[in-house]
Amino acid sequence: MRKFVSPARNLAFGLAGTFLFAAALVVAPPQAVGKADQIKAQSWSFSAPFGMYDRGQLQRGYKVYKQVCAACHGLRLVRFRNLGEPGGPEFSAAAVKALAAEAEVQDGPNDDGEMFTRSGRPSDAFVSPFANVNAARAANNGAYPPDLSVMAKARVGGPDYLYALLTGYKKAPGDMKVGEGMSYNPVFTGGQIAMASPLDADSVEYTDGTPQILENYAKDVSAFLMWTAEPKLEERHKLGFRFMIYLFILAGFLYMAKRRVWARLKH
Ligand code: HEC
Repeated sequence: MRKFVSPARNLAFGLAGTFLFAAALVVAPPQAVGKADQIKAQSWSFSAPFGMYDRGQLQRGYKVYKQVCAACHGLRLVRFRNLGEPGGPEFSAAAVKALAAEAEVQDGPNDDGEMFTRSGRPSDAFVSPFANVNAARAANNGAYPPDLSVMAKARVGGPDYLYALLTGYKKAPGDMKVGEGMSYNPVFTGGQIAMASPLDADSVEYTDGTPQILENYAKDVSAFLMWTAEPKLEERHKLGFRFMIYLFILAGFLYMAKRRVWARLKH
């Protein structure tokens, strides 16, 4: 026999459950404490539903990566020819060749069975600054500078997080002990990061008149890293736009068809 459960009891249990759930949300926010509120949404040319990358910004961002970040971070999923492809920085073919030629690429073996280095070609991938993880750690006080190819997609907040991190270095609060070789940065989980602030005003030369301030460097390199993580974003946005138009036209035809079908019926 089924036991009788009064509706009032059901309601009481329901309310209590809802209250506990809400309380759990308040007590344990989904983000690490103190981090989410540090990441502010920036306005990006590519973030709107049909947004596109800003070519000039990607080209400046490449320059910042090359002159600053590349000393420690690789971009092993990017090839030099990608820099000239549609939907990216769109450097000219000659510029791509010149940029590739600046890299020293290991190749081989030659006829004597030996490896050798040569200057890069557009088909080569970016060369990582360290031979392996151990070498990278040894040069960075034990910390590993991760490859940045897909970093913009690997962190909550994406380019907003990268921007917040790069501009987030501050003086540590008096009561906090910052470890040796570490820097205080409240945006990084734990508040201490083994990367010293990499950007300084006037450290990279811009030739298009963009002010050479830290915020611009951070923004441009974050946009560039968004492109390396999502090189097909523009294609996707364009496809979405065409699909919307298709749906719009289809809706028009369906409406006309509906009127024809129903016109035969007497009201
Ligand atoms: C002198 C070496 C060095 C330079 C130059 C450098 N970094 Fe780093 N970076 C590091 C190290 C080391 C770490 C690992 C930090 C840690 O785990 O505490 C790191 C970590 C990072 C991370 C990962 C943060 C996370 O959430 O895990 C990002 C993103 C990053 N760097 C971006 C950049 C960008 C962009 C530049 C150029 C503007 C740059 N770095 C320049 C050494 C460097």
